[in-house]
Amino acid sequence: MAEELERAAAQAAALTKGEAQARLTELADLLAQANRAYYQEDAPSLEDAAYDALKRELAAIEARFPELKRPDSPSEQVGAAPAEGFSKITHSQRMLSLANAFDDADVADFVAGIRRYLGLSPEAELAFTAEPKIDGLSLSLRYEGGRLVSAATRGDGQVGENVTANARTISDIPLQLTGAPEVLEVRGEVYMSHADFAALNQRQEAAGAKTFANPRNAAAGSLRQLDAEVTRARPLRFFAYSWGELSEPLAATQMGAIERLRALGFATNDRTRRCETVEEMLAHYAGIEADRATLGYDIDGVVYKLDDLALQARLGLRSTTPRWAIAHKFPAELAWTRLEGIDIQVGRTGALSPVARLVPVTVGGVVVSNATLHNEDYIAGRDANGQPIRPDENGIGKDIRIGDRVQVYRAGDVIPKLADVDLSKRPDDAKPYVFPTTCPECGSEAIREEGDAVRRCTGGLICPAQAVEKLKHFVSRAAFDIEGLGAKQVEAFHADGWITEPADIFTLEDRYGSGLQQLKNREGWGEKSARNLFDAIAERRRIGLGRVIFALGIRHVGEVAANDLARHFGSWAALADTVDAAAPAAHAHRAAEAAELAERRAAADAGRRASLAKAREAAWADVPAAARAAWEDLTGIDGIGATVAVSLATTFEQVAERASIDRLIALLEIEAPAARATQSPVAGKTVVFTGSLEKMTRAEAKARAEALGAKVSGSVSAKTDLLVAGPGAGSKAAKAAELGIETIDEDAWLALVNDAPEGAVHGDG
Ligand code: IVH
Repeated sequence: MAEELERAAAQAAALTKGEAQARLTELADLLAQANRAYYQEDAPSLEDAAYDALKRELAAIEARFPELKRPDSPSEQVGAAPAEGFSKITHSQRMLSLANAFDDADVADFVAGIRRYLGLSPEAELAFTAEPKIDGLSLSLRYEGGRLVSAATRGDGQVGENVTANARTISDIPLQLTGAPEVLEVRGEVYMSHADFAALNQRQEAAGAKTFANPRNAAAGSLRQLDAEVTRARPLRFFAYSWGELSEPLAATQMGAIERLRALGFATNDRTRRCETVEEMLAHYAGIEADRATLGYDIDGVVYKLDDLALQARLGLRSTTPRWAIAHKFPAELAWTRLEGIDIQVGRTGALSPVARLVPVTVGGVVVSNATLHNEDYIAGRDANGQPIRPDENGIGKDIRIGDRVQVYRAGDVIPKLADVDLSKRPDDAKPYVFPTTCPECGSEAIREEGDAVRRCTGGLICPAQAVEKLKHFVSRAAFDIEGLGAKQVEAFHADGWITEPADIFTLEDRYGSGLQQLKNREGWGEKSARNLFDAIAERRRIGLGRVIFALGIRHVGEVAANDLARHFGSWAALADTVDAAAPAAHAHRAAEAAELAERRAAADAGRRASLAKAREAAWADVPAAARAAWEDLTGIDGIGATVAVSLATTFEQVAERASIDRLIALLEIEAPAARATQSPVAGKTVVFTGSLEKMTRAEAKARAEALGAKVSGSVSAKTDLLVAGPGAGSKAAKAAELGIETIDEDAWLALVNDAPEGAVHGDG
């Protein structure tokens, strides 16, 4: 390595400034091409060594002529810009799931069933493998000529997501095999170890980023990253346990095939055993269960597979599961304890969430002292439809009271839940729990809207709990992501009144950069860290519109919706004007929903059919045309429905909330989503896709159209320029015809856009 660096430096030393500049441009292009090929097209155009050599050459030239370094130099980039989502891979052989066995008898039945199916006597030899069932996510790796060519998630079993670039970053996954069949699909489980999971969550927390509920979520979230460099930084592991397409068999037995995979360089589970009787299978299960807590990774059972592959082939498959394998699941971990109290936590959107405070109890090796109680209906023993949950012998849902003996369990998630309540142990003085109707944090009224399972604090910004949660969301990674300002810092600043709303972050330096009370004098801060924080904040004054919209933490407006809105409106003013204008329509929409519900009930009581159209019409009767147009503009955006539109409009109407948003906006320099292509034939046009598309998914079509500068809308209106209609196009095609809107089919669309140059649409909008 040192030698190669020296060579690069010597090359650089021989260049004139003019030559250096020309070579830098060349190198930037070569690297960009290679990045695209590797990360987005999953078709590497360069050997790793050649790629590294180019990067070294670039770095050496930049070191010698720093003034020539381009602001967009590849030396500053990690990986390539994220692709627009994952492409799809159709599995050459379906990825299967497993039937379950829950007790010893199920396992005996499984073995007996196989004997019957194969016409074997109870005495005939029949061996099975038994191995841990890893709690991760399955992945299929395809090797051709020994080279890893693709990696796909399970998806629906038929079609998965192409995560090749990400899989390449996992060290347990070999990129190159020696002596492998020409075509080899290796299947197994991607997972994260307990230690790596804990360390990752610690890093996430320190960085003020979101933490993961359990190792499986962390593994899934890490594998499904659009930027493979993020995956690379996450400690993922892989166990191989199965295979798909093969150009030649791996072995004659399951055990032999696993040994072959191990010899090829795959990690296989060392608790895999060959068992010759049901008793041996169950003994191995018991052994694995006993060691469960010390394995260092999550498992949720043991998988038995028939060892003889010829017999496996004879048994074949049911619709989605093989007949020759079964998963023997571990029982859910349960424990009884006493409910000491019910705490109410208030979230970012004001939701009041009840949490059970328990006498600490060990559940499957973990001490549990609280559990979610979901919402007030859950405590009362009803589900969202008023049906009993935890029914007693009379079918009445058992309620939960403070002082009750309750049964706790841990499902896949880390947050424990309550399984049951023992009414025979209920203290005589236990009273039904009365869910608060005021916010425990700020005293404001907490109301529950029709159709909402959750009661919410109406205090908005005056509620300290909501304010702090909102601020945490505001600085989170997909939002403002300010270095040095994570959840912990926000909490501390909020507690001292330094930051009460997002705008305060951007005036922090004016208020606490100098004078008597200074940030650098606070505990945990110094001259340098204070300076760094102010600089990081100043840097974030310029920010993409999508991030701003998401950061506001408006209910139902997630990252995707925020970016959809940003792309559609292009500026804050355009968004705000439309949302403001749409307010009367949002009221009408809500009124119409309430009226419809009332009409449904009245009709049901009177035993007649509901007349919903009437109820709806009445609500919309007085809505001015401008409000209707704004409403249609908003809800016409692909991905934005009435729920988001209503949520935006109600938030923007709240006087205090709006003033706080306006104070923030005034301090920012908001960037429009990256320039759209202007030369494409669809630039600036509003396009609607309808019917079924055969050559691309909806998401792909939308991404491509947007990359070409088009707006994609979900509904046809007078503003629509072009309708792309696949087979089965119904009312939208009819409406387009009525309005005289140009309508083309999928092939014509592809012909139209295929050679068009794309604008830069990557980035955070
Ligand atoms: S074998 C045809 N072996 O469990 C066989 N699956 O519930 C396909 N899993 O989708 C699966 N550990 O993701 C097999 N040792 C193991 C496993 C395992 C975990 C997962 C796999 C599968 C799911 C079925």
